[in-house]
Amino acid sequence: MEFKYPLGIIDSGIGGLSVVNAVRALLPAEDIIYVADPLHFPYGEKSREELVEIVKPIIGYLSQHRKAKLIITACGTLSSVCLPDLAQLISIPIMGIVQSACQEAARVTRQGKIGVLATRATVKAGAFGQTLKGINPGLEVIEEAWPEFVAAVEKGEFNSPEWRVQIKNRLISLKDRGVDTLIMGCTHFSLISWFFQELGGRELQVVDPAWACAQEVKNKLYSEEKRSSSSGKLSILVRGDGFSFQESLDNLSFHLKEKVSLFPVDLGVNISV
Ligand code: DGL
Repeated sequence: MEFKYPLGIIDSGIGGLSVVNAVRALLPAEDIIYVADPLHFPYGEKSREELVEIVKPIIGYLSQHRKAKLIITACGTLSSVCLPDLAQLISIPIMGIVQSACQEAARVTRQGKIGVLATRATVKAGAFGQTLKGINPGLEVIEEAWPEFVAAVEKGEFNSPEWRVQIKNRLISLKDRGVDTLIMGCTHFSLISWFFQELGGRELQVVDPAWACAQEVKNKLYSEEKRSSSSGKLSILVRGDGFSFQESLDNLSFHLKEKVSLFPVDLGVNISV
């Protein structure tokens, strides 16, 4: 059955494009509306109440005006802190990135010790740890916040010698504590998961939630017969400063050229919701 409505994918900035990329690879015929909200970046420094107020108009816009059939919070923070609150506000389904990423991490870990790198709000909410323990109570979980690096990725500036050293040190410290599997608990990290994998070496398995989430979306659309056979159009809507967002994308596209195929996109529509 044809179900032509678009998927709505949301994040504070460029991080959720990792999910867009994976969804486009697995479901090339789906139209996607991506809403980035740099006006309220960083989400990871906000409270649950603030996040619900901030995101309410975005999900209202996607569900009512754009008739989205499914909304994906391509954001570790929204997925961990307020997904049930957001679900209550709309009548279409909404899903996050935590569950599928945890399932994948629990599947691939060898020693049962899993690290999560995320925002401060995500770590405080503890959703990754709870979900992992729900899958297997024997798993050990170390969740760490790294807001400074989220901001660097948002600007498209992550590939400097200084950041490389910092990332390496952080990964060494996690490995020293026995972590063999690392979840990119923030989609800003997911966007450059290949970079973490490169610096972490073979002993560390990096789990990119974008792919696990895209597979979950695919399964859902297939089982509920909600697939589309559209042209796979991607629209990016920026709430706030579209110009800086474009700049981040340009910085990033330089590094991402061979890693993801996001470009060119239909960018530049500023929305005020
Ligand atoms: N990409 C987001 C996340 O996964 C948001 C980062 C932020 O805005 O702090 O948490």
